[in-house]
Amino acid sequence: MPELIIALPKGRLQDAALARLACAGVRVNGAALASRRLAIADETGRFRFIFVKPADVPVYVEHGIADCGVVGRDVLLESAADLLQPLDLKIGRCRIVVASPHPETVMNNFGMLRVATKYPRIAAEHFGARGLPIEIIELSGSVELAPVLGLSDCIVDVVETGRTLAENNLSIVEVICESTARLVVNRASYQLKAKTVADLIRALGEGVRQETFA
Ligand code: PRP
Repeated sequence: MPELIIALPKGRLQDAALARLACAGVRVNGAALASRRLAIADETGRFRFIFVKPADVPVYVEHGIADCGVVGRDVLLESAADLLQPLDLKIGRCRIVVASPHPETVMNNFGMLRVATKYPRIAAEHFGARGLPIEIIELSGSVELAPVLGLSDCIVDVVETGRTLAENNLSIVEVICESTARLVVNRASYQLKAKTVADLIRALGEGVRQETFA
């Protein structure tokens, strides 16, 4: 029986998350990683990793299937999950932005804006706080296409390098917030597995600090 189960996001954050854990002494065997198995143990058997879609990390941790997880702030803001967030891992840095092929039209628009996004909650809160009426068009990927093809006036999406925006002729209208990946912890696990969780937070935090001051 592993001491801790850790949910990791498949995709662009996965390698950076594994590297942070390796710095904290939690290592996964390369052959196991290269396999298609979605649940694997670390080299000591003390930890078990489950690999899930980024948006599902908060779900597994909130329900206690995983004790901890690594997830972007963008996903956390979109999720309603009740989780502890003890550590900014300072990986997966990106921005959540409003972007459009016609930024000036969006800025001067006071009528109903059509907003395509994978982040309906963040979009609704952002425009709602300004009292601007919007129609949210929820998509699950390739969001940049929506305003180019006339499905929406703008998008709310994450930008990492800016390449996808640039190559689809979209410009940033405004930055909603910055995002980095966080360690999240289930509330019950934080109490019941206090020492193991605290040791992990300390070791991960040490790695973050060493990198920051390197
Ligand atoms: C994300 C995001 C942008 C892109 C930004 O999409 O939704 O499309 O990455 O990255 P960039 O600024 O480095 O170009 P993702 O790759 O997760 O795929 P998706 O469109 O299927 O959601």
